[in-house]
Amino acid sequence: MAGSKNAALAIMAASLLTPEPLHLRNVPRILDTALMAEIVQAVGGRSKHDGEGRITLQATQVTDRVPAQMAQRMRASIVLLGPLLARTGEGRLTRPGGDQIGARRVEQHLRGFRAMGAQVEETEHEIIARSQGRLRGARIVLDLPTVTGTESLVMAATLAEGRTEIFNAAREPHVQDLCRLLNKMGADVRGAGTDQIVIYGGRRLRGTDHQIVPDYLEAGTYAIAAAAAGGDVTIEECPNEDLQQALLKLEEVGVQLEQRNRTLRVRRDPGRTLQAVDMGTWVHPGFPTDLQAQYMALMTQAQGSCVISEYIFENRFQHATELNRMGASIEINGRDALVTGPRQLQGATVGVSDIRSGAALVIAALCAHGVSAIEQAWHLDRGYEDLVEKFVALGADLERRPAAVPAGRRVEPA
Ligand code: EPU
Repeated sequence: MAGSKNAALAIMAASLLTPEPLHLRNVPRILDTALMAEIVQAVGGRSKHDGEGRITLQATQVTDRVPAQMAQRMRASIVLLGPLLARTGEGRLTRPGGDQIGARRVEQHLRGFRAMGAQVEETEHEIIARSQGRLRGARIVLDLPTVTGTESLVMAATLAEGRTEIFNAAREPHVQDLCRLLNKMGADVRGAGTDQIVIYGGRRLRGTDHQIVPDYLEAGTYAIAAAAAGGDVTIEECPNEDLQQALLKLEEVGVQLEQRNRTLRVRRDPGRTLQAVDMGTWVHPGFPTDLQAQYMALMTQAQGSCVISEYIFENRFQHATELNRMGASIEINGRDALVTGPRQLQGATVGVSDIRSGAALVIAALCAHGVSAIEQAWHLDRGYEDLVEKFVALGADLERRPAAVPAGRRVEPA
């Protein structure tokens, strides 16, 4: 598996916390990490990559402002606010863009910065956070365990004066990987992977080497694809421990799994009927929202009806419309989707609205009779390294047609 997208994005932002170089390995070669490398450069850092997933980032000097058109192109740019504010005393960010999967509010991030002594101003287009002198450690209770909010606040707290406690913190594997990296840089971050993270701040951070953890969401995507399309697939470098909830669900559905150390074998015998099983997304260690769309594609192939509930984002069912165009039977009612199967899907021309809906449509296309054309496929390049090549290696008949990336997105994968 490639390195984790979401870990890599936060970790690349952490390079802004020190003037010394950060040497990263296993950085996924995807559009989002390429864009994050561009952003680090745009705020004054340097970035060098070898095209093989190794990147060195060095932010000898840092400015306070992320260029507007870059921030708008990637929602994850919000993680830069904490490092910029802590390092320069000011962070300015055009309101981030990204997927159209929900309101994607950031008030928890801003409340946290205010608790640490920053003044935060919000205009229609921009967020400006300033501190007089250093940030101060604080007790921060998050109303909900936001992933990038936790990451941004932890990073800011490493340079703040004194102790910061974050209650109701996010526990996702990418948050844990960021905290491991920060500790290697000389920070003192405790409790990562639990809902209470304590940071003893004010240390000078240094450069270090770090290997990004394998992407459990990529692994989960291929596991679900194998279950839906049938076959016998072994996933190497698979972080099984991070995927337990999703794997239990797949077993309930009737997929055969063998977990060994860092490999996962996924088998579905031809002719074996899959059972529809209800699923609700939740924060880690619950079923990841980032695998919900793929699971929905799988459920179109299962026997019976099930309800898929999306509790994290309020608008993350765009793929349902496209799956229905391929012959699925999915009814949406608020945060619930009722899926009835199995349905023989038919190839169609469908459009991708975000990374994970794209993955779901690829899975559906692999199950469908006939040819499917997946448009706006550049969303997939934002999050999946060599997706076409990996599926082709598994025996899928899939090819990439050119002109998939709109002009504003054209960046070289790092
Ligand atoms: N929320 C608030 N207020 C806040 C922050 C969040 O109401 O201040 C709400 C959001 O509106 C959303 C929910 O809380 O409904 C979860 O948002 P969260 O902040 O946790 O998500 P995020 O940090 O913006 C990260 C991942 C997403 C992933 C979510 C949930 C990165 C770069 N992005 O987003 O990844 O879906 O956590 O796990 O880490 C993807 O990889 O395809 C992707 C979208």
